[in-house]
Amino acid sequence: MEKKFETMLLHSGKGKKEKKPIKSKITPIYQTSAFTFDNLDELEGYYQGEGNYLYSRTGNPNPDELGQAVAAIEGAPAGVATSSGLSAILAGVLALVKSGDHIIAADDLYGGSFHLLKEELNQLGIETTFVAFSNLSKVEESIKQNTKLLYTESITNPLLRVENLEAVIVLAKKHNLHTLVDNTFATPFHCKPYLLGVDLVIHSATKYIGGHSDVTAGVVVGREDLVGIARAKVVNLGANVSPFEAWLTCRGLKTLALRMKAQSFNARKLAEAFLENPNIAKVYYPFHEIESGYGAMVSIELSKNVDIHKFFKSLSWIKIVPTLAGVETTVSHPLTTSHRALPPEASEALGITKEVVRISVGIEHVDDIIHTFDEAIHRSILK
Ligand SMILES: Cc1ncc(COP(=O)(O)O)c(C=O)c1O
Repeated sequence: MEKKFETMLLHSGKGKKEKKPIKSKITPIYQTSAFTFDNLDELEGYYQGEGNYLYSRTGNPNPDELGQAVAAIEGAPAGVATSSGLSAILAGVLALVKSGDHIIAADDLYGGSFHLLKEELNQLGIETTFVAFSNLSKVEESIKQNTKLLYTESITNPLLRVENLEAVIVLAKKHNLHTLVDNTFATPFHCKPYLLGVDLVIHSATKYIGGHSDVTAGVVVGREDLVGIARAKVVNLGANVSPFEAWLTCRGLKTLALRMKAQSFNARKLAEAFLENPNIAKVYYPFHEIESGYGAMVSIELSKNVDIHKFFKSLSWIKIVPTLAGVETTVSHPLTTSHRALPPEASEALGITKEVVRISVGIEHVDDIIHTFDEAIHRSILK
């Protein structure tokens, strides 16, 4: 019987077997929630490890490509992509600790990570002590019987402190602890924590890995067995990334080296220009400390004689954006955005004051970037 109109709408044009496999240059977007099977034997074969894909939450070629690509450039054997940087942290942490365990985390973590540990994981019986990792003897003193994990960032947000990862790893090994490092700011272009001995590395791929401010995604890479546990958390907690977001992130990843080179070059020039500006009280930039030179973020503390509201209004084409790492230069105000979750005493103690401005340096011409900041500061000086 010929198919009726309604049935044709759903089932036409499919099912014709191609003479040869289609070899597209770029991995197609597998925008499907599930995969089909020709018969029950093939379906059973999936469960016996013969087939690749069943259901997109449990596995899809685009997220798999992203996880594997980031693992490769970090020098790690395995990786799993996630729906965001925060879910990568959740999956990574839950791969390493369980209820009743204790974590020691750097006290200058990204505000969202701080909240996840302090509030959400605490409610699940996972306790965290926040310590200044610049003083590792304090970290060592904080180790308890049930401590399982040391957690820090390779370059911290927003004050760009470069972590001494080698020393953190030595301490962790001495006490038989796991290590988890958020490598979002440095990226594997500047630093490869897994190769230094870190167990799990996470990324907010929303940032430099994607690089174009058009996706929210994350990645956990590291030891195969531990990534296997993280993958199970991603599947079981539903923290998978969509095929399209993963595809876009893979596309962005291809230019990571080009972007990081250009953005880091501009950032260093901008930071040098800021050092000469009498209306800037402090310049936060790792001039000498990163493996391959420097990063692409710069933070400044404006002097008290600069009207901070006027400054943010005077930045012309440089937009105020509560994220970072796109190809356009943007600014953010950490105290009222990324680090809002920190109690006022904690931000005060860390130096995240209302005068601190975080700058994500883009790929525009550096002269235009420097000029626009100079002008904005000049226009905002209190009379
Ligand atoms: C260092 C760092 N880690 C993790 C995250 C969380 O990433 P996402 O927003 O993709 O969940 C952020 C977000 O700004 C971040 O800056």
